[in-house]
Amino acid sequence: TTATIAIDRTAVVAPINRRIFGSFVEHLGRCVYDGIYEPGHPTANEDGFRLDVIELVKELGSTTIRYPGGNFVSGYRWEDGVGPREDRPVRRDLAWHALESNQVGTDEFARWCKLTGSELMMAVNLGTRGIEAALDLLEYTNHPSGTALSEKRIANGATEPYDIRMWCLGNEMDGPWQTGYMTADDYGKIAARTAQAMKAADKNLELVVCGSSGSAMPTFGDWERTVLEHSYEHVDYISCHAYYQERGGDLDSYLASSLEMQYFIETVVATADHVGNKLRSKKKIQLSFDEWNIWYLDEHQASDEVNEGWEFAPRQLEDVYSVADAVVLGNLLITLLKNHDRVGSASLAQLVNVIAPIMTEPGGAVWRQTTFFPFSVTSRLARGEVLRPRIDVGTYATKVHGDAPLVDAVATADAETGSSAVFLVNRSQTESIEVSIDVSGLEASTITEAVTLHDDDVYAKNTLEDQNRVGLRDLSGATLADGILTVTLPPVSWSALGLG
Ligand code: AHR
Repeated sequence: TTATIAIDRTAVVAPINRRIFGSFVEHLGRCVYDGIYEPGHPTANEDGFRLDVIELVKELGSTTIRYPGGNFVSGYRWEDGVGPREDRPVRRDLAWHALESNQVGTDEFARWCKLTGSELMMAVNLGTRGIEAALDLLEYTNHPSGTALSEKRIANGATEPYDIRMWCLGNEMDGPWQTGYMTADDYGKIAARTAQAMKAADKNLELVVCGSSGSAMPTFGDWERTVLEHSYEHVDYISCHAYYQERGGDLDSYLASSLEMQYFIETVVATADHVGNKLRSKKKIQLSFDEWNIWYLDEHQASDEVNEGWEFAPRQLEDVYSVADAVVLGNLLITLLKNHDRVGSASLAQLVNVIAPIMTEPGGAVWRQTTFFPFSVTSRLARGEVLRPRIDVGTYATKVHGDAPLVDAVATADAETGSSAVFLVNRSQTESIEVSIDVSGLEASTITEAVTLHDDDVYAKNTLEDQNRVGLRDLSGATLADGILTVTLPPVSWSALGLG
């Protein structure tokens, strides 16, 4: 099987905004406690943060980090997590049926972000709380000094404001599982009023209104329309959340999951633009795809993982990812890049231990899941502008998505350095595919890097016992001659090529 790809240097989707490589840290399971934070660990710093985890977060290349939830935020009182640690209350987290010690809160997390070089993206609680708590948190984090709450922050050790730019107006308020969930009409009103008030404090904030928790929600589409009819002029982004998994042994359909993500994006863009045009607005709403990943949700729901004992940091949602999962994840990232003109920001959900690319053991090791690799390589190589390639390839039949192209790809090019990159997946379970890529418009003379994620066992995984079972391999045989890049993609693989 063969494919041809043409890359047109002028087919620019958008300049790359590094926020597309964001991630997500929620107070859930062992993401914070026994994940990024473990005071007794040999590598812990004075705040209790594991430096070995920070090293891998940097290698992963995640940029903007959404915090503190997720479902957790809809019952969270941010004031519990600031001030002297010994005075912080233990609370019940109704979202995950766990206990919250509040030993990590806004100030600690802001310090952690600084150590990782990432931007903090904050979510406010619109489940059990509202405008006042959101404004208080904004004053605490962003006001320079001289007010009650900014002085409190200074007394807590942060002389400089955190200047948080991106704020989520609640989380998944369409979901019946959400503490304080609402109808689209009710949520649209509270979101608009909260946004209006927050922008009265700082008109340059970038606000994310909740879209649907998934495209399978019964309210999908109507929710976005109603919420935006209320809030359009006050917000900048609408969120999308999507999780994928293999179901019923149907690997063919699973490997084409990004087609569903594409449909999701197109539907939300159309809905947002419909509302915008109706309002005669000059503004375009961007998408914040602030939860996306592989999540074996059916299995978690079936196994009734709820922690009835109200434990601290129980093991929850600790999915172990396979090579196939990593290929799908790489393809989802390709899709986000292809839609970067409208998807301005995205967060891989989540970062450590909880449906995460990075795993830890208390007192012990930190390791990379299979999904770590496509994310880290894409974040490192994708620079400059995203280019939409023309792909000429055959299709295969899937039960869920109809006919799916066997190969998907996206390219990036950086005018400043002259470097470029191509990211590809082969969705075929059986065929290697030889792809010839016309890169003559890219001023590329050499292949600087050629890697692939592939294994004869598509279900191979990295585990505590075998942490390096799966890794990147050289994509052998890649050649570049007369402006034509030729590569052979193994079956069920994700690959990246750097050109210079
Ligand atoms: O990421 C796990 C959970 O998935 C989040 O808390 C919630 O927002 C979504 O349902």
